[in-house]
Formats: sequence, structure tokens, C-alpha cells
Amino acid sequence: MSEIKKIGILTSGGDCAGLNAVIMSVVNAAAKLGWEVYGIHDGTDGLTNRPLSYEVLTVNNFSDSPWPRLAGSYLGSLNTGVKKESQEEIAARFGEGVRELGLDAVVVVGGDGSMNIVSNYCKSAGVKMVGIPKTIDNDTPLTDYSVGFDTACEACTKALDDLVTTARSHHRALILEVMGRDAGHLAMHAAVAGFADVCLVPEIPYSLAGIINKLESVKKSGRTHALIVVSEGVKTETGEAVTAAKNMVGEKINGGIGDYLSKLINSNYSGFQTRVTKLGHVQRSGTPTSFDRSLAVILGSEAIRLLQQGHTDRMVAYTNGKVQSFALDEVVAAGTTGLDANSPYVKAARLIGMYVGEEQ
Ligand code: F6P
Repeated sequence: MSEIKKIGILTSGGDCAGLNAVIMSVVNAAAKLGWEVYGIHDGTDGLTNRPLSYEVLTVNNFSDSPWPRLAGSYLGSLNTGVKKESQEEIAARFGEGVRELGLDAVVVVGGDGSMNIVSNYCKSAGVKMVGIPKTIDNDTPLTDYSVGFDTACEACTKALDDLVTTARSHHRALILEVMGRDAGHLAMHAAVAGFADVCLVPEIPYSLAGIINKLESVKKSGRTHALIVVSEGVKTETGEAVTAAKNMVGEKINGGIGDYLSKLINSNYSGFQTRVTKLGHVQRSGTPTSFDRSLAVILGSEAIRLLQQGHTDRMVAYTNGKVQSFALDEVVAAGTTGLDANSPYVKAARLIGMYVGEEQ
């Protein structure tokens, strides 16, 4: 059993729906054990910037509050920022922050990148850590679901439901570009749920001919409109990125494949006019679904249970229908997890006639 008295919790990386339900469940489960919880502001910045930025969280913060039902992060979150210091200097300040607050453990709610970076900070600070997976991309390894993914699927499916009516009125093929970085989970799940005709994901090569064949068969069937979903990480048919855009720290910025495809289809096929909707950050927002809320409660409380039992350096997960945990080293080694080209979603999509790229 552990000697823990005080823990920190932080949300790291792009936000998503369900983070506040995670924070609430961590606070409530910790309070039951008599532990103090410090909410760290703006991801690791709250511990690495000076002055430190944090607040003490109690059950009262959330018991009569709308926060657990809202998207966003009550604590604020941090995507890659521009830092002048080296990782060693940042890790050292993180350690000083941990010691100044007297934290015995840190709960990190993040994606695969955060599990990697923050676990290094925690190791060098000598503080315990348990990670909770969250991301709309659903690409955190070793867990079937990350918090926030289901709500993002709902946002994309709703967008398809909204687009189909105007597609029908104007006899168009409407393209929906969704997020997901280099993983096609969000696009494929939404395309299946939203009954799209075409779904392109980074993991499966496609051809313009394949897209046009599908559109032509829709037309021949007598239907005068179509829906195309494309994941932001999809490249051109020949494998080039559609944009060379990078952020201030040199990471590529996705986006633009929808417009690229629209022009390509319009200049090679006259059967449908195309238009593009780039859904953007609404995918990270909206009312958290019941699945994301319950996943948040299950994983948040499990993180505290693990710490109480003396575990550290683990990520909680929901895998094969069971609550499990994995060593953070294993999680980091597994890397970002893309969509399996043989997943039930891809198989079902093909079986109902959706064009999802070329069979390998
Ligand atoms: O990782 C989550 C995510 O929403 C990706 O799907 C998307 O590519 C990226 O973050 C957008 O990041 P930002 O908010 O920095 O534009």
C-alpha cells in the first residue's frame, strides 16, 4: 500500500470532451482516501513556469457544478508550445515544482506524446505517475478507447447527417474533412455511422479512379447525392503531403486534403459537383457522450486505485472490454496506433459497398 498524501493532476495535449469528468472522478476517488489533490494549470506549464500555477481541488469544486458535464479542460491544457529551454531544463523545473508542492504522485491525462514526455519528467523528478488516455484521434496504444474519441465521432456523424440534406437538394458530393492526425479511426468510425459513400484514411492507399467509380455507381443507382469523408492525414494518391505547413516548433500541420480532393474530382469527373466542409475544432467540443463520461469515471477512479496499491509508471486502459493497465515504457514503445486496415469497421464498410481505398 502507498504512503500517498498529496497528488497533482494535469491535462496535457489537445483538449477533448470528457476531461472534466476525468478530473472529477480523480478528485472524488482521491478524497475518499483522504488525499489532497492539486490541479495543475495548463498542462506541465503550471509546474514548469514560475510562479507555479495550480489550485487545490476538492469534491466541492465539482459536486454542484456543470463542469463534469462540459467539454474543454477546467485546468487548461497545453499542446506543444515554443520553449527555448532543453528538455533537461524543463524536466528540472518540473521536478522543483513537484517538490515545492510536495506531490507524491501525478496523474497525467494525455495522449501518447504526453505519456512519453511527461513520464520522463516524472521519472527524473522521482515522482510517481499514472496516465489516463485521452484524444479524439484514438491513437493511444494498448487501449481500445481514449476519452474524447466517442464524442468526436458523434460530432462527425452529426455533421454527415446535417450535410446529407443539402447534398440531396443540390445533387452534390459533399466532402467532410475530419481530424485525427495520422490515424484514421475518427474518419472510419464516423463514415460507417454516417453512411458515407467514400472514406479515405491515411492507413489505406486509394485511387482517384476508385473514388470516381464509386460516385458513378451511386449515380447509376439513381441517387443524386453522395458523402465523402476524408481524414486530415490523407496524402495525395501518390503519397505526397498536400501541405508543407509547419507549426512554430516544426511539426507538420495537417489539413487541406478536402480541398485538394474536391478540385481533383471536379476536374476529372462531371457526375457531381463537390463542396468541402472542414469540421475543425468542434470535434474536440460538444456535450460529452455517456460513453466518454463513463470511460472517464472508470479510468479516473482506476488511476487512483493503482496509486493506492503502490503502482507507478502505468497507463490505465480499456482493452478487450476490461479495465487494465500497462507499463508506460510499454505504451511508449508501442507508439502511435493507427487504424487496422482489417478492423471490423473497414471490413463492414467494404461489405456495404463503401469505397475505403484499395484492398491490399
Ligand atoms: O490530436 C488532437 C488534434 O485535434 C488532432 O486531431 C489535430 O490534428 C490537432 O490536434 C490539432 O491541433 P491544434 O489544436 O494545435 O490545431
